[in-house]
Amino acid sequence: MHRSAIAVLASGRGSNLKSILEAMKDPAYPAEVTLVLSDVRDAPALDAARAAGIEAIAIDSDRKGPRFARSAEATILSALAEREIRCLVLAGFMRILSRSFLRSFDGPVLNIHPSLLPAFPGLDAQGQALRHGVRIAGATVHLVDEGIDTGPIVGQSAVPVHANDTREALADRILETEHRLFPESIRKVLTVPYVIEGRRLRFHEEETSRS
Ligand code: GRF
Repeated sequence: MHRSAIAVLASGRGSNLKSILEAMKDPAYPAEVTLVLSDVRDAPALDAARAAGIEAIAIDSDRKGPRFARSAEATILSALAEREIRCLVLAGFMRILSRSFLRSFDGPVLNIHPSLLPAFPGLDAQGQALRHGVRIAGATVHLVDEGIDTGPIVGQSAVPVHANDTREALADRILETEHRLFPESIRKVLTVPYVIEGRRLRFHEEETSRS
């Protein structure tokens, strides 16, 4: 079976990366992670990639703050092109990619966020959910556009919020569901044709299942 080469961008611990590497052990899984990139030189995600025998590169960017320098984005784009990467996955990636980067990459760019978007975008989504007093929280995988956590939704998964939850307990419960949702969403985007209608991503199988 043909597997699409995907690259993962991660800034931190890399548990979502590991869930994708786990899914990819199944030969029927349609994607293979062939490159992991990080904006953090000592990110555990880079170690996880190397331990799995996958190329891992830290991207230097002089620029502080949420955006990369143009030159750093150009480095990433050429690394992706050289390796014929078909899909880019942001797994705990803490920077914002520019509009010109997103236009230049020819393939889907996916992100996972620990809330049921459009609720609680941005930092500390789990803390935002607790402070707001919602009874249901969860995770969202979406296509990346130039906003923060705003692109068309690919998949969502809900978890309950318990009355005595700490931020950590809620974050752990959400993370567990992320680890199933992300590999499944990647599989779907790579294997099921879809169209974007306004804000909405519609998979073709949803249309046929109704007819
Ligand atoms: C996850 O909660 C993800 O939703 C968010 O950042 C966290 C990354 O965790 N975007 P990990 O590095 O994958 O363990």
